[in-house]
Amino acid sequence: MEIMENFSLKDGREIVLRFPKLSDYEAVQAYLEQLATETIFTNQYPGKPRPTQEEFEKAISNCWMKLALEGNKVVGLLSIHPHKPNHPWLNKTCSFGVHMLEAYHHNGLGHHFMEMLEQYAKEHKMHRIEGTVRHQNVNAIALYLKHGFLIEGMKKECAYINGVWHNEYMIAKILEAA
Ligand SMILES: CC(C)(COP(=O)(O)OP(=O)(O)OC[C@H]1O[C@@H](n2cnc3c(N)ncnc32)[C@H](O)[C@@H]1OP(=O)(O)O)[C@@H](O)C(=O)NCCC(=O)NCCS
Repeated sequence: MEIMENFSLKDGREIVLRFPKLSDYEAVQAYLEQLATETIFTNQYPGKPRPTQEEFEKAISNCWMKLALEGNKVVGLLSIHPHKPNHPWLNKTCSFGVHMLEAYHHNGLGHHFMEMLEQYAKEHKMHRIEGTVRHQNVNAIALYLKHGFLIEGMKKECAYINGVWHNEYMIAKILEAA
């Protein structure tokens, strides 16, 4: 059974949130290619080779992912990656990635994705959620701090983008109950 959730952006546009399907290959690639032209704050870059269908299938089955769609167009994506699920010491940590097209920013979807992330973490009894964020990404940093993440440190000069070295903050949130 397909689980779909409707979400209204602040400006009234209607978004559907659901798990990806194999048939989303083209829509997801088109989305990632557009994202690559709009921001340097994710690891998508212009000209990045497309995965094969098999690689796409593996990628969507190896993590927990939700697509945000307006009609048939993918406009945003949340992915959650459990670390070492079979390791008895390390299986309570997950990392995440969140992004959307520029035309959908500042409309509450980021907050909603963060709530979905926390819900996932609680349901899967995670203790720690972690991620990285480029140090100039003030919107994302503000979003993460609002959702209880702390900056744990900085990775210096870890990405070389258009001739400039970029630092990244390491961020994490500890979920007390788990
Ligand atoms: C970061 C991102 C996910 C935020 O999503 P969003 O839908 O725009 O965020 P929301 O509208 O839910 O706003 C959430 C918070 O983000 C911050 N924020 C959003 N727009 C902002 C702006 N223009 N200036 C400063 N802070 C801003 C605010 O703290 C805001 O909280 P508020 O609404 O209570 O003021 C989105 O901007 C994005 O996809 N950016 C490009 C990709 C990216 O950077 N991904 C993160 C990689 S680590």
